[in-house]
Amino acid sequence: MTIDPSNTVLAFDVYGTLIDPFHMEEHLRPAFGERAREASELWRGKQLEYSFRRALMKRYVDFNQCTTQALRFVCAQLGVTISEDALAKLMDQYLRLPAYADVPAALMSLATTGFRMVACSNGTESAVRGLLEHAGVLQQFSGIVSVDRIRTFKPDPAVYEYLAAETRAAKENIWLISSNPFDVIGAKACGLRVAWVRRDAKRAFDPWEFETDAVVHSLQELTGKFDSR
Ligand code: 2OP
Repeated sequence: MTIDPSNTVLAFDVYGTLIDPFHMEEHLRPAFGERAREASELWRGKQLEYSFRRALMKRYVDFNQCTTQALRFVCAQLGVTISEDALAKLMDQYLRLPAYADVPAALMSLATTGFRMVACSNGTESAVRGLLEHAGVLQQFSGIVSVDRIRTFKPDPAVYEYLAAETRAAKENIWLISSNPFDVIGAKACGLRVAWVRRDAKRAFDPWEFETDAVVHSLQELTGKFDSR
């Protein structure tokens, strides 16, 4: 693959790509017991569904609120009562989720190669900054592009236009790197280049009319692809 790092922006999705939202399973266990995994998956699914619905309805609230409301839904759906303190604690733990194991070394290698890198997320600037700082990778990024500034959510095309405007890069020189197929397709439909990080090998890609420019199973693999110039 021929890519010139000096004029290429790598825009990384955050939740699910750099940061592991399913780590919450561990924190859900005291309240949800053996249904902790189900709760964590339902939580992530509802969080995204709420963001999609709010973007469609033009009823923006920030991603932290989508996440909190999704957690309240999970409790109601699974018939688990938790105190407001316990809910606040879980939300606090959400702000300190860990990065996937391959992330620090891969980001360092891509930054050393000379790529300009930004984080591009549905999360608020402050939540994303905190997560990247906690994971020890914040310094690899030249900026954080948060949807919060434009009060909508991916995959609204406005987000990818905003990403291009913020980075002042031509769309064909921006790679959106995401594990979320809806994000990959959203960016591709806007004219960006896209890499799907297929962290879960069993996960299928949506059979729409858009194809990825690269599929990798880890960020380490991405490093290999982008370095083979
Ligand atoms: C993110 O924007 C969609 O969760 C994903 O970080």
